[in-house]
Amino acid sequence: MHDPHQARPAATRVVRPARRLRGDFHLPGDKSISHRSAMIAALGGGPARLRNYSSAQDCQSTLDCLAALGVAVAREPGAVLLAGAGLDGLHAPGRALDAGNSGTTIRLLSGILAGQNFTTEVTGDQSIRQRPMQRVIEPLTLMGARIEAREGRYAPLRISGGGLRPIEYAPPMASAQVKSCVLLAGLFAAGTTTVVERTPTRDHTEIMLRECGAALTTETGAGATRVSLVGRQSLNPLGDYSVAGDLSSAAFFVAAAVLVPDAELRLRHIGVNPSRTALLDALAEIGARLEVEHPRTAHGEPVADLVARSSELGGELVLAGGVIANLIDEIPILAVIATQMQGALTVREAGELRVKESDRIRAIVDNLRRMGAEVTEYEDGVRVVGPQRLRGARVESYGDHRIAMAFAVAGLIAEGETVIADADAASVSLPEFYRLLAQGGAEIDA
Ligand code: S3P
Repeated sequence: MHDPHQARPAATRVVRPARRLRGDFHLPGDKSISHRSAMIAALGGGPARLRNYSSAQDCQSTLDCLAALGVAVAREPGAVLLAGAGLDGLHAPGRALDAGNSGTTIRLLSGILAGQNFTTEVTGDQSIRQRPMQRVIEPLTLMGARIEAREGRYAPLRISGGGLRPIEYAPPMASAQVKSCVLLAGLFAAGTTTVVERTPTRDHTEIMLRECGAALTTETGAGATRVSLVGRQSLNPLGDYSVAGDLSSAAFFVAAAVLVPDAELRLRHIGVNPSRTALLDALAEIGARLEVEHPRTAHGEPVADLVARSSELGGELVLAGGVIANLIDEIPILAVIATQMQGALTVREAGELRVKESDRIRAIVDNLRRMGAEVTEYEDGVRVVGPQRLRGARVESYGDHRIAMAFAVAGLIAEGETVIADADAASVSLPEFYRLLAQGGAEIDA
């Protein structure tokens, strides 16, 4: 099968040590919230204007898939416009949908496709075609969808939907993508669909569905959170919606500021939903100079400005259990930070890292070793004892945006030059990454 993603030029970037960083940035919208805003806007009963929609390639994949399903999608400066098609307004696409590199696109969209009275094929790039899909196939099949998958568990997925029944479902792993997939399918099921989480995960879907008037309740007790949604009710249009800045992208700038000697970076209007802020708590615990200013709420989502400065870091940071889901995307950059702290970082029970855009445990360990660091690899995590000197080296992105960005930050504090192979993988979540870092004073060559 032709894979357009293979055609992406594997650009290399060279990063040199930075002595100073300054910046005052508005970052593009949160990737998780952007995907949801587009999908929920598409199902709404009227138009939506999504401001600060993420510039990530992943979020473009979501828009392309929705357009192929017959949703009118347009751009104006600073915003994406979507004509809500309503719950019953999608049409069978003339071709397979392409989720690109985006796990959130394929898994959340599968929930919507399961609710349609037609058959859709959905696939993605080489990485997506190797990531586990059983986690959405199982609950959607229980709801009555028929799904054919390669080897029963990988994309391409062929989803024949319609006539869904509600279920009560406890995902076997902590996953906001699975929860959201089931809730979106629940919109099309007659009755109440419930997702039971033993470990809470990001709740952007719940917040946004409520913003659109959905009958959705969340109850916490007896070690679990139960999210229940009444299906077959029309959604109000999302209307004029402004996406909060991406905390998971901000994490790389916060790390750069904390690690580089004379640094201060201000990041404005960043989403600080508590289901995503364990990184900030972890950084506070190791002495990072990080201020969370002007906390406020926009469209039900907590938002604030972040100010990060050069810091002396130290402590014994142990991350395992329930906190992992909250900072799963930040573990690569935390591992880089840990090389510079007086103490150690231990990450366990984070086996999910092995099935992300790359095997992130392998990628972290391999690249840190290339930079001369000692690191222990576990099946479900890593341990980094600091402080350690990093040496400039050739590192690999493994086609993974967060690995590219984490090791670009490592390059800022390494001795000599760091060469990042396939550095432009960063565009999957933040095409502006190298430009902003250079604007702040970093020396980066294309
Ligand atoms: C996401 C949930 C997380 C996260 C991913 C985005 C989401 O994945 O790692 O980057 O938007 O729901 P899982 O649900 O697989 O844990």
